[in-house]
Amino acid sequence: MVPSQKMKAVQILGNFSSPKVATNYSITSPTPKGAEILIRVLASGVTGDEVLWPEVYNTASRIPGHDVSGVIAALGPDYNGPLRIGQDVVALLAPARGEGQAEYTICLADEVALKPSSMTHEEAAALPIPVLTAWQAIMDHGKLANGMTILITGASGAVGTLAVQLSVKLAGANVIALASSPHHSTLKHLGVYEVHDYNTPGWEGNIKDVDMVFDTVGGDILTKTWETVKSDGMIVTVGDPAPEWAFGKDSQQLSQALEMVGEGFIKPQEVEAFPFGKAALAWDYARQRGRGRKIVVTFGG
Ligand SMILES: NC(=O)c1ccc[n+]([C@@H]2O[C@H](COP(=O)([O-])OP(=O)(O)OC[C@H]3O[C@@H](n4cnc5c(N)ncnc54)[C@H](OP(=O)(O)O)[C@@H]3O)[C@@H](O)[C@H]2O)c1
Repeated sequence: MVPSQKMKAVQILGNFSSPKVATNYSITSPTPKGAEILIRVLASGVTGDEVLWPEVYNTASRIPGHDVSGVIAALGPDYNGPLRIGQDVVALLAPARGEGQAEYTICLADEVALKPSSMTHEEAAALPIPVLTAWQAIMDHGKLANGMTILITGASGAVGTLAVQLSVKLAGANVIALASSPHHSTLKHLGVYEVHDYNTPGWEGNIKDVDMVFDTVGGDILTKTWETVKSDGMIVTVGDPAPEWAFGKDSQQLSQALEMVGEGFIKPQEVEAFPFGKAALAWDYARQRGRGRKIVVTFGG
């Protein structure tokens, strides 16, 4: 059934140098065409840095957001797959489309996975980008293997926390973490064997010959990691290049990742949910350092 015509949505107005997060209560809600799927969004994850990514500034709607969890509200006239109206799903929307921070959003069949019943919509909405970024960087690109040593920068972040656990539990690697000191004990609980504080001058000189660096910070931190990696090692960063999820066909990997979280094999960052009316505050908070939580905006009610 097609929803009401107007919906609530977050918008990023302004431009790169002065983005302004706004809430709009009267955006025209989308209608699924062809084989598209319409999701009634209950929660949508915030990646604070999205205000610095070019994609949202190129959309007419200016609605950000790629990670959503909600209920299937309608199926396009040509959809003939197994999904049904009313199912609880999680989706990772393609970067060029986005528009997940809205009451209703459009997705494609290869962007959707069923939501495990063991997690809430808030928890599920916090996962797609962080978990697939970590997984694809470490397992697909880095080919991290048992016994290898990996340095993970930004290890306490949404991507970093999952990268640490995938490295320890899935790959069987030795993990060295770079994070500010308040996060050190949590990281040790997650299985890292060594943790360094990026506020300690010369930290890079204390780490030698790692097989792989997974950098989630970029800039000066990324430059310094060159000193820590062995000569035939590898550095993978998510600072710049478009990730694989930009090209869709992630639903199978997303299902596997959700299953691992649903069964408690890996544990994401704690989630803090903000209602739609406080979305500007949520985005502001999501861009702050040292918060140790993943932020989602909820659209229920
Ligand atoms: N290209 C891609 O595919 C892709 C996809 C997803 C994410 N990303 C990028 O990956 C990065 C991490 O995302 P996220 O969601 O994990 O972010 P997050 O949850 O905000 O985590 C950021 C982490 O980086 C650390 N950090 C921030 N600034 C730092 C600095 N100057 N020096 C050292 N450490 C610093 C933070 O440590 P403290 O909290 O201790 O300060 C925190 O652990 C973001 O830049 C995001 O844009 C890229």
